[in-house]
Amino acid sequence: MPKASEIRVFAPATVANVACGYDVLGFAIDSPGDEIVVRHGTKPGLHITSITGDDGKLPKKPEQNTAGVAALDLLKHLGMTDRPIEMEIHKKMPFGSGLGSSAASAVAGAYAVNKLIGEPLSKRQLLPFAMQGEYAADGAWHADNVAPCLLGGIVFIRSNQELDVAQLPAPENLWAAVIHPDIEVLTKVAREILPKEIPLENATQQIGNLGGLLCGLIQSDYGLISRSIHDVIAEPRRQKLIPEFYKAKRAAMGAGALGFSISGAGPSVFALCEGEETARKAAADVSEVFSTIPVTCQSHVSKINPHGVHVIEG
Ligand code: HSE
Repeated sequence: MPKASEIRVFAPATVANVACGYDVLGFAIDSPGDEIVVRHGTKPGLHITSITGDDGKLPKKPEQNTAGVAALDLLKHLGMTDRPIEMEIHKKMPFGSGLGSSAASAVAGAYAVNKLIGEPLSKRQLLPFAMQGEYAADGAWHADNVAPCLLGGIVFIRSNQELDVAQLPAPENLWAAVIHPDIEVLTKVAREILPKEIPLENATQQIGNLGGLLCGLIQSDYGLISRSIHDVIAEPRRQKLIPEFYKAKRAAMGAGALGFSISGAGPSVFALCEGEETARKAAADVSEVFSTIPVTCQSHVSKINPHGVHVIEG
């Protein structure tokens, strides 16, 4: 592969958990997403030269920055930490949004640097390095944002420890409506309110729903998908972090959604729908509910993004 002088990449937002797949299922959407630009520099080592869209919140020291950690971990693995590389980070997603913001930065950092140096590793081989960046951000080891952001599509994680992941097909007419109410939920807090142990009955229900959802996706069986998108473990505990959650859920289901739940740790919520029109109606109706809190929201209607992170034109 020839070495490019500058690379700009886009890493998409992701919906983690997808209701019944806590920490083991996620999918990518078309937008929003973070952008990272890397170029060959003059001073040895990785340098973050500018960050935009972060309100000055993100550290520029690579070893303290999500994208920097992922890139550094990759360079260390390749024995190239002295390689002069400059990185610009353009955050286009809010923090603590449930849209996989930190995962997108981590994925973009590792992917961009790998591209710049001639692509020694495949996308799939970048997974452990991007994971280190995500881990630096939220202190928990789960690939349900990183893996779909990197690989695209719907990704099932058999084991987070072994990073054993499998991509699933997305039914042709499956659309997602993702709505982000402008409140902050820290992933750490949303994880701490979950119980360490769950009743066997809940585990059985959740396993049944997860299996049903995977089968429904593989068979393009919208009825089975709809009967399966239920979370009896995280959603009942986390809904209290999202004002009017159940009203929003009723609005989405009333609009014809197949299912509705919390995107990742929240506060974003998502509806899976058959067809674009239903997804747009669900997004509008859920946004209307949130407007009564009152809180502003951004909604994103998208098919499942099959590409994941990719190079874009400057
Ligand atoms: N699976 C994670 C959680 C996603 O629900 O805590 C966080 O982005």
